Amino acid sequence: MKTIVIANHKGGCAKTTTALNLAVVMANQGSRVLAVDLDPQGNLSVALGGDLQELESTRCTSHRMMLDARGDVSAYLMRARPRLDLIPSCLDHDAETLIEGQPVSRDLLLKNKLAPVRSGYDYCVIDTPPSLRAPTLNALALSDLTLIPIESSMFALVGLTQLMRMVAAVRRAHAPKMIIMGLSTMYVARQTVDKEVRSQMESIFKSNIFETRIPRAAAVNAATGSGKSVFETDISSPAALAFFQLTNEIRERFDHEKVGLDALTQEYSEGDSTSSSAREEERRHQR
Ligand SMILES: Nc1ncnc2c1ncn2[C@@H]1O[C@H](COP(=O)(O)OP(=O)(O)O)[C@@H](O)[C@H]1O
Ligand SMILES: [Mg+2]
Repeated sequence: MKTIVIANHKGGCAKTTTALNLAVVMANQGSRVLAVDLDPQGNLSVALGGDLQELESTRCTSHRMMLDARGDVSAYLMRARPRLDLIPSCLDHDAETLIEGQPVSRDLLLKNKLAPVRSGYDYCVIDTPPSLRAPTLNALALSDLTLIPIESSMFALVGLTQLMRMVAAVRRAHAPKMIIMGLSTMYVARQTVDKEVRSQMESIFKSNIFETRIPRAAAVNAATGSGKSVFETDISSPAALAFFQLTNEIRERFDHEKVGLDALTQEYSEGDSTSSSAREEERRHQR
């Protein structure tokens, strides 16, 4: 399982939109994907079919999972789409405080919890909250690729140094192979400010910047509003194409490891018992 963490402590730079569209495109291409929502606002959870009110009572959320002493995490997995599972999130102040206060391995809670399910997925896509506190650090500690979405607007780069310093520190401590890459989001090619932000990003990230720019498009907003990825609502939109291209770039970065349909064929032929997709199929047959 390769883990892609979408991180930027700025709100509104398209973290959730990127996580949602990446997860859906990858699953549609045949990869087995685990999406993890670490933001208590629960936007990704809602977009993937979660019910925030229900989650507040069941507490089957990523934060509670991190605090759960039991090894089995299957109770926290929700089927969102074929081959796409979700560990959702919702507002839960107590859980956040408890995570912050964990005395031992505070930054490794998520990594340890996900260890038993790693073999069931090709990719894990983690959406993080707009902060650099414990949940985000937990995500970074298991990150193979940290994707930093940057909105193409004034002030988009303010605070980026602080973010990069933090990500680099977690890489040194816990994830030495982590790749850090910038992504231009809400990009309008004809606007001067967008080009300026892009050229500054190029000088900061050097070769670690995605060629793909996610265009600003009404279709993205409309899709998110209806609880879907743009890929599901308007496949002909330039934004849908951009998310396809972004997925390809990510797969290239990972050297086309055995993912997608190849892995799927392997999963079914081996009857991988750790995969939640396989378990869900079994349950369906038993009903
Ligand atoms: N490419 C895009 N074109 C138009 N609107 C977008 C695009 N990407 C994101 N948005 C909108 O911008 C807002 C913030 O995006 P979101 O993904 O929630 O950001 P974050 O998770 O970083 O806070 C949302 O209303 C979303 O629909
Ligand atoms: Mg968000």
